[in-house]
Amino acid sequence: QAVSLIGAPTDIGAGHRGASMGPEALRVANLQARLKARGIDVVDRGNLQGPLNPWEPPREGYRHLSAVVDWNRAVYEAIYGELSLGRLPVMLGGDHCLAIGSITAVARHCREHHKKLRVLWLDAHADFNTAQITPSGNIHGMPVACLCGMGPEELTTLGGSKPATAPDVFRQIGIRSVDEGEKRLVREARVSIFDMRQIDESGMKRVMEEALEGVDADTHLHVSFDVDFLDPAIAPGVGTTVRGGPNYREAQLCMEMIADTGRLASLDIVELNPAFDKRNQTAKLAVDLVESLFGKSTLIR
Ligand code: ARG
Ligand code: MN
Ligand code: MN
Ligand code: MN
Repeated sequence: QAVSLIGAPTDIGAGHRGASMGPEALRVANLQARLKARGIDVVDRGNLQGPLNPWEPPREGYRHLSAVVDWNRAVYEAIYGELSLGRLPVMLGGDHCLAIGSITAVARHCREHHKKLRVLWLDAHADFNTAQITPSGNIHGMPVACLCGMGPEELTTLGGSKPATAPDVFRQIGIRSVDEGEKRLVREARVSIFDMRQIDESGMKRVMEEALEGVDADTHLHVSFDVDFLDPAIAPGVGTTVRGGPNYREAQLCMEMIADTGRLASLDIVELNPAFDKRNQTAKLAVDLVESLFGKSTLIR
């Protein structure tokens, strides 16, 4: 397995500054060495470049739209390039708006290689807002809608064809904050959502079995890991904390069950915000979890 780390140091789509420091925090927490210790060939491609954050108010429902487009083009090209080399790209965000670029690239790769795409969206939020219904104008609250063709032309057509993907490729896990208008949209689009209540009632094991159902040898499995998925008690280093998320053991089980499929083919690690963290604990936790995602287990190996 050959892995490429790609930093995208920006908070251009977020409502708080600081996710731009995410890639460096993950490096400081030794992400590359920890994966290498597992026998994985890991190359760090360094950071992509894009516009600085002008920190302007939203215009016509979007904050920083043109800069978000620039960053996503860079991410799209980089991720597509790594997939073409047969490598597993890990996008180090950066805020979650960058998943538009990464998943558009993944979807194109899947079309060209006749693979089925499954996206596991690990998040406290559904990220299915549009300019008409967003409470904030922050584009990190919109990537899933954009990927399903609902959003500004520049973002929905990033990969040439629109929509990049469809609601039925997504399985959202850990959801506990959905805005009013957004609720109606996810229902209409029939997005498959395993919210925290479902995790409480059925347990993480049953939820992951359902979310991974149908994943087979022809499936490209993409994980979009928004660090605010985790309970803020263990992961304070994010801009948009929502209490009541998965605890350490639930998160580990989630990652281990994904690893067991053997189908992980691309990954985003986003929304890590060292400005809200203490002693880089959230990056260290994210690295622990990513080790499990790449197959680390207590007894085997
Ligand atoms: N739903 C809120 C909004 O649209 C918060 C979104 C948070 N998204 C995230 N990727 N952290 O503004
Ligand atoms: Mn491939
Ligand atoms: Mn989130
Ligand atoms: Mn998110």
